[in-house]
Amino acid sequence: MSGLQGKRILFGITGSIAAYKAAFWVRELVKEEALVNIIMTSGAEEFISPLTFTALCGNPVHLDMFASDPDGVMAHINLSRDADLLLIAPATAQTMAKLATGMADNLLATAVLAAKIPVVICPAMNTAMYTHQASQDNRARLLELGYHLVAPGCGDLACGETGDGRLCEWEDAREAMLQVLTPQDLAGRKVLITAGPTREALDPVRYLSNRSSGKMGYAVARAARRRGAEVTLVSGPVSLSPPSGVELVSVTSAQDMADAVLSRAEQMDVIVKSAAVADFKPDNCASLKIKKGSGGLRLDLVKNIDILASLGQKKKKGQLLIGFAAESHNHLDEGQRKLTQKNLDMIVVNDILGAQTGFDVETNQVTLITPSQHQQLPLLSKTETAHRIWDAVVALDKGM
Ligand code: PMT
Repeated sequence: MSGLQGKRILFGITGSIAAYKAAFWVRELVKEEALVNIIMTSGAEEFISPLTFTALCGNPVHLDMFASDPDGVMAHINLSRDADLLLIAPATAQTMAKLATGMADNLLATAVLAAKIPVVICPAMNTAMYTHQASQDNRARLLELGYHLVAPGCGDLACGETGDGRLCEWEDAREAMLQVLTPQDLAGRKVLITAGPTREALDPVRYLSNRSSGKMGYAVARAARRRGAEVTLVSGPVSLSPPSGVELVSVTSAQDMADAVLSRAEQMDVIVKSAAVADFKPDNCASLKIKKGSGGLRLDLVKNIDILASLGQKKKKGQLLIGFAAESHNHLDEGQRKLTQKNLDMIVVNDILGAQTGFDVETNQVTLITPSQHQQLPLLSKTETAHRIWDAVVALDKGM
């Protein structure tokens, strides 16, 4: 569920200067152990040689609409029957127009018409061409026909102009493919996820914080989006890019996070609090930089608002509230105590003492505790952990 490994991707490449980027995308797919077959239009061949793609994916590139395969089945039918997904990148204005009207005058267009698999289209063209009403009408028609479109990026174009029309980033295309291939069991659900640390200011340059990188919370947000949820991610300061398709609300302190979360909580079906919120903040934030002086420095700390406990008090009927707990010992007892005290539906307890678990690593080992049971998960990537958390949330949702 967490990657493209073993997925059979039929990759259509059309005649845009961005065709050279498709070589990098094929390489990424092969690295991820996806099985790639390629169709190039004659326009694409003007920009890059089929030999490049044969070398990268290990399969001959399909060019000819009238070629038969050894079984005697026409290539345009067989190619899409043997794939899980058809990706078109870059997709030119001409290809979009053909697909919008059902024209079938080359191998790629006929393969799309014959396809019974999801089709993901990544347009790339000059800004004026992309924003032209004809292209926008074609785009709308393609959506009506059930194709999946990834919005082009904005920036410098090969033609020297600047604007919308750049081929999207590989990560966005990958995410779109994964979303299409993933069961949409969170479709129609509004979820809010918190991630990362908070910073509590001591003076204009110093703060108290913790080692949370945001990786766990961002993985939870990405997994929810992939499964069809409408996602709001409230994030403390981290150095990660937000998952595509997610609304990001950036905050700094625990109070900022409380304001952002509590003002949105009412509209949410599920709230997951994976942020590591500072329990304490300095009683006073000095307006000028604190000077070193000759002696030590004593800090007076006061308690921060417990956001999760406030959410538990206000929980609306049917809403699911999921907490995290970072524990070094007595995991089950501590998890169960927080589950009850904060009125949660589930708590995800991290073992933070293991070298590969908890703060600022790629993997995690967690125990999922609900009022009726607990389940210890093995050491997994944070992405896989996030999907297992959502599996449990979906099961809870069905039981309500
Ligand atoms: O970000 P990474 O580097 O990937 O690391 C992931 C993680 C270890 C930070 C994460 O998985 C995690 O365990 N987050 C919760 C850490 C924590 O603050 O645990 P806690 O036991 O102190 O808090 C329990 C719960 O109350 C948490 O859901 C927390 O968000 C919430 N809380 C805590 C204090 C507070 N003032 N307000 C809160 O809402």
